Amino acid sequence: MSSQKQEVVKRITVPEITARKGGEPIVMLTAYDAPTAAIMDPHCDVLLVGDSLGMAVHGMTSTVGVTLEMMILHGQAVMRGSKRALVVIDMPFGSYEAGVEQAYANAVRILKETGAQAVKVESGPEVPATIEYLVKRGVPVMGHVGLLPQSINIDGSFKAKGREAAEHARILQSAHDTADAGAFSVVIEGVAEGLAREITEAIARPTIGIGASAACDGQVLVTPDMLGMFDWTPKFVRKYADLRAEIGRAVETYAADVRARRFPAEVETYFSKKSALP
Ligand code: KIV
Repeated sequence: MSSQKQEVVKRITVPEITARKGGEPIVMLTAYDAPTAAIMDPHCDVLLVGDSLGMAVHGMTSTVGVTLEMMILHGQAVMRGSKRALVVIDMPFGSYEAGVEQAYANAVRILKETGAQAVKVESGPEVPATIEYLVKRGVPVMGHVGLLPQSINIDGSFKAKGREAAEHARILQSAHDTADAGAFSVVIEGVAEGLAREITEAIARPTIGIGASAACDGQVLVTPDMLGMFDWTPKFVRKYADLRAEIGRAVETYAADVRARRFPAEVETYFSKKSALP
């Protein structure tokens, strides 16, 4: 028997995240692949396989074209790369709006085929009933209010929401309905500080903000945004790295080395063993 002990790392659970309401801020980032998830895992409480992958990884102009199969494939990769963070997977546009049974069947597919612990849905007016149905049947759900990227074809742009009284009241109500339906936490996207604070104070579930001020119980960013992968960065993003420039420099240097025959060098080359020579 081997004397080596295998380190067992327990994943953060849904109830542990819910219990963080008003406590230590929740750290969430989006993740789409195994190696990046492995780098982020020790530092994050939640890894969100967001449908933002349509834009951030696949070059789409919105999240509308993202499919269930894409979410499952990326979800499996993130689960393979991580061992500690709670993994939540977005239900893509069209996979939960037709009715509670459609939503349940697709949520179960996501959980069974990836091993992730929870799904996230964008909480349009019809969605709280779906959240309640899923939660009652064993599917943990994270809600999402404010700017809803899957509604881009209704809204026409990705502008911040809730800055006028009527919309403010509608988003506040939507957050209440989402929490009352049993969502274990609620993402608030693209709203003014006052509304984010009001929601966070009003609901018993932790709020996780993106472009929604420091008033929330936690924060999330789209990882390629905060790593500086794109030439444009929204106002609410802080760039923690400049990977676009870094990758550009690395590839430029590689290309110059190949063209000048500086790469590969002897140390990067395999040679036949002496005994193998004729
Ligand atoms: O898809 C996503 O990355 C998200 C975050 C913006 C919260 O939903």
